[in-house]
Amino acid sequence: MAIKISVVSEKGGVGKTVSTTNIAGGLARLGKKVLAVDLDQQQNLSATLGFVKDGNPTVSELIYNAVADFETDYQTAIRHSESGVDYIPSSTMLTNITSTMANDTESNYILKRIFDNEIFNRYDYILFDCRTLLDLLVSNAMNASDYVIIPVESGIYAYDGLEKMIGKVSSINNSTNRKLRILGILLNKQQRTNISASVAESIKSDYESITFKTGIPYCPAQTEQAIIRKEISVFDNRSSLGQAYSKVAEEILTKINNVQ
Ligand SMILES: Nc1ncnc2c1ncn2[C@@H]1O[C@H](COP(=O)(O)OP(=O)(O)O)[C@@H](O)[C@H]1O
Ligand SMILES: [Mg+2]
Repeated sequence: MAIKISVVSEKGGVGKTVSTTNIAGGLARLGKKVLAVDLDQQQNLSATLGFVKDGNPTVSELIYNAVADFETDYQTAIRHSESGVDYIPSSTMLTNITSTMANDTESNYILKRIFDNEIFNRYDYILFDCRTLLDLLVSNAMNASDYVIIPVESGIYAYDGLEKMIGKVSSINNSTNRKLRILGILLNKQQRTNISASVAESIKSDYESITFKTGIPYCPAQTEQAIIRKEISVFDNRSSLGQAYSKVAEEILTKINNVQ
């Protein structure tokens, strides 16, 4: 079965989407079959991977159909990006989807039902790019996952919400998903400043066993805005961002091999 990873944080702008996209790219460069799932109505991941609106289902329809017990041809929801990473786009319908999800008798496990379908077994990794909330949609992603990755900004606000997020993972672990583990805290937007370095040091020492050794440099010219403008490719391993994420992808494979 595919290994499923939710990229989560209750803080916006920390790099959930940039990390999901680039980790997907890094794992693909290492020869893995990867599916990225956009779970944010803002559709940034979809746009980054080249999504152009078509008539096929988005993740919103998959959820609506699962709640209504309608059959869905999951294959039609999977799009292929130029890079070889496959993805399922989102839509604005996700905004209020939790009110529909709450009607399901197994409302905690809707995404799990969907992504446990055998059609998804062809992937080695499925990555969920979660929205900036801790609501039923995001807890569904965590219930469908084996691991979470928590990106943090390497600045004075790095600790904001981190304990709460870790607490949320352990409460899910004690209730709805016993196998859920923190794969890593990912230090993003690292700058060559004293504050950035000391925050990184302190997170690494406070959360030693769960912080990725590789941090992601702050490179404003290389993130998704540049990618959307097609100035660079998201999967460009020559950029410092791409290289950092390749190392993170290697760490992920090592960590998972050590756990399993
Ligand atoms: N390493 C980085 N260097 C420079 N800009 C970054 C980096 N990571 C993220 N960003 C920028 O920060 C903003 C938020 O990133 P995003 O991945 O959309 O965060 P989230 O999904 O957590 O809200 C975006 O404009 C993105 O381009
Ligand atoms: Mg995002």
